Amino acid sequence: MRAIARAQPNIALIKYWGKRDPIRNLPAVGSISVTLSDLFTEMDVEIDDALNDDVLIVNGQDDNAMLARVSSCLDNVAGKDRSAGRVTSKSNFPIAAGLASSAAAFAALVVAADAAYGQALNRAQQASLAGRTSGSAARSLLGGFVELENHRDDIVVKSLLDADDWPLKVVIAITASGPKAVSSGDAMEISRKTSPFYDRWVEQQAADLAEARVAVLDRDLPKLASIAEHNCLKMHSVMWGSRPPMIYWNSATIACMQSIRELQSHGVAVFFTIDAGPQVKAICAAEDEQTVRQALIATTGVVEVIVSGLGEGAKLVTA
Ligand code: DP6
Repeated sequence: MRAIARAQPNIALIKYWGKRDPIRNLPAVGSISVTLSDLFTEMDVEIDDALNDDVLIVNGQDDNAMLARVSSCLDNVAGKDRSAGRVTSKSNFPIAAGLASSAAAFAALVVAADAAYGQALNRAQQASLAGRTSGSAARSLLGGFVELENHRDDIVVKSLLDADDWPLKVVIAITASGPKAVSSGDAMEISRKTSPFYDRWVEQQAADLAEARVAVLDRDLPKLASIAEHNCLKMHSVMWGSRPPMIYWNSATIACMQSIRELQSHGVAVFFTIDAGPQVKAICAAEDEQTVRQALIATTGVVEVIVSGLGEGAKLVTA
């Protein structure tokens, strides 16, 4: 009747941007990500027959904004005639600022709800249900390097490499805090309907995925760097070409990209990726972590730097 699960955010190296079926939340493209180890969200789901409606408490405060999505996720796991649940969420990193907090939250929620409502789902079913609430959440069900395959009627997540197989570091430069103006889900729909670049983006994704998959399996950082930066900037070009345009960057975002270019010119194996927010994620070899960290801390406009290794998929912490 009560279960707690923990999941880590994931950072996409080949991005999910666009929905093929907005009702079922099926993505228009596949994606490849890395699951982090040091940042986490814990979801505590307690079934309470005394409650009339679900309750959501995020980091100690009632959260009505996310409640509808949480309730619909619980419906997906346990059916609409389930008992109400009290859901308590705790994260050890800033939420709603382009740090994939919803991915970790919904991955953990599905795993906790599955146990609390006694559904006995397998990992593939959990990933599919998490993806219905938030596409990127499906990837946090697995650890290390994860590919989300966009199948005709569903999504399937696959592990490409375990975290220990290629222990890269992710150095995250926080350049602003606070929630984003347009959610990624809404922004994707604006892109689909208005961006002249959207169709080309979707069309080219299979080639980008193939190139990145080989780079990951070969543990080839320069090759992964090249395709990941290209894919990220192409996604942002789709956003910039939308009407209204969606520009998630600030001046510090660009300053971080320049710092990373500078490191690259000195032979440091590092690359950047940026999601629907102003934060910059630098991916590098473990031995370059300190160099990359120092360079980003010294970049004008950077408020904080968080470093994470790669980790495991969502799991129950108590049953
Ligand atoms: C830019 O998974 O947040 O981070 O399915 O609408 O919840 P919904 O979208 P979401 O989108 C993530 C977009 C991205 C790229 C990525 O993580 O692949």
